[in-house]
Amino acid sequence: MTKKKKTAIYPGSFDPLTNGHIDIIERALDIFDEVIIAVLHNPNKKALFTMEERVEMIRQSFNGEKSVLVDSFGGLLVDYAKIKHAVAIIRGMRAISDFESEFQMALMNRKLNKEIQSVFLMTGLRWIFTSSSIIKEAVQFGGDISDMVPEAVNIKLMEKFPKI
Ligand code: PNS
Repeated sequence: MTKKKKTAIYPGSFDPLTNGHIDIIERALDIFDEVIIAVLHNPNKKALFTMEERVEMIRQSFNGEKSVLVDSFGGLLVDYAKIKHAVAIIRGMRAISDFESEFQMALMNRKLNKEIQSVFLMTGLRWIFTSSSIIKEAVQFGGDISDMVPEAVNIKLMEKFPKI
């Protein structure tokens, strides 16, 4: 009997990808056969990086990893997950402050599609305070965040905010 491949979607803005995201993806790969990193196309949210830049930085960071796919999506997450035959949506949990909005989103997703489970994974303690927004804030004022993001992201951040 051939085992059916279990695919999970890891959705987000990834503006940009951080080591905290990578930590979650590595944990998800312990459970699922394949993880699709799905970057939300949201015309209403102003991003630092374009969709193409975000996707490219993620591709470079997972170069050669066959069980990690990178894609973009718009519209409802559960519709996208269904098209991809995913069984689960992965979200990272850092602290209690994440809980309320994640809980609300998971329940809405379940209402919209009961077949797709939300799976919450805890980041390693090292990344508990890491977020794309705080990294962008630090780097624009010259802060060194090179150990909080993959190399490909650090290079792009340095291009956006060159140290003078
Ligand atoms: O990294 P983010 O910005 O916290 O990710 C949020 C994301 C992309 C998971 C969420 O905004 C999303 O799923 N948007 C797609 C629209 C959708 O399906 N909304 C209904 C569920 S509340």
